Amino acid sequence: MRDQVVLISGGATGIGRGIAFYLGDLGAKVAICSRTQENLDKAVTELQQAGVDAMAHVCDIRKPDQVERTVGAVLQRYGQLDVLVNNAAGNFPALLKDLSYNGFRTVVDIDLNGTFNLTKACYSAWFAEHGGCIVNISAPFEGAGIPYQAHAAAAKAGVNSLTRTCAVEWRGQNIRVNAIEPGPVSDTEGMQRLNSELSVQTRNAVPACSPRDIGKAVAFLASDDARFISGQCLAVDSGSGVDLLKLSLAE
Ligand code: COA
Repeated sequence: MRDQVVLISGGATGIGRGIAFYLGDLGAKVAICSRTQENLDKAVTELQQAGVDAMAHVCDIRKPDQVERTVGAVLQRYGQLDVLVNNAAGNFPALLKDLSYNGFRTVVDIDLNGTFNLTKACYSAWFAEHGGCIVNISAPFEGAGIPYQAHAAAAKAGVNSLTRTCAVEWRGQNIRVNAIEPGPVSDTEGMQRLNSELSVQTRNAVPACSPRDIGKAVAFLASDDARFISGQCLAVDSGSGVDLLKLSLAE
């Protein structure tokens, strides 16, 4: 990853932060974006203290104009863009009966439309001409009914579909596109929220990896070692995927 330029959405906290630090440790130049300046400032300071060449840009990925400005800022600072990690996501546990029109739309807008927005902006500004690599952080939801996650599961199924279509449409342009489906990841807000809905038995049954473990999978997919891998959705979950589809919910 040395001197590769990586843009990570939602890179200030949780899984995105773990990816930023892992790729930074490998020598990548790391650009992170998120909605919250305070989180970005903290993460960039910590990355720089760790010796990583890092920058941050405030961006709501639902807003195409903000997305385009962010990609422009990265190109202005580093003069290239090698890897896009679509990690930013919004989520909350809610049964369908409690999900408002706006609640469903908001999560789909962040998780699916936001991924498209950043993907398209990076493609138009850089990847179309120079090639590149995209890694989408999805979820192990596809092919199952996921109580409390109707909005996120629909959005992430869309992300997986987008991953495959981008890979096919752009394979002649030296652009690889893959997704990672993390199982439970410790120290993340999403996991804290979801945990409150799961039974103790389920929580204990499914092992959690760290955000850094997801960074390792991103590094592999972004590396030349994966040069023939595109259009794939890779579960990173210690093989717990089958169990995840059978989560028992707390009463
Ligand atoms: N249960 C039910 N509905 C909820 C909800 C919950 N826990 N949290 C938010 N919503 C609904 C809101 O009520 C609103 O719908 P309404 O207008 O019909 O009332 C809608 O979702 C949008 O919420 P709002 O907070 O106004 O939107 P936002 O754009 O500021 O933030 C999220 C949306 C999803 C990002 C928000 O939940 C959030 O800030 N989450 C923290 C970050 C996060 O999601 N981390 C986990 C990543 S996996």
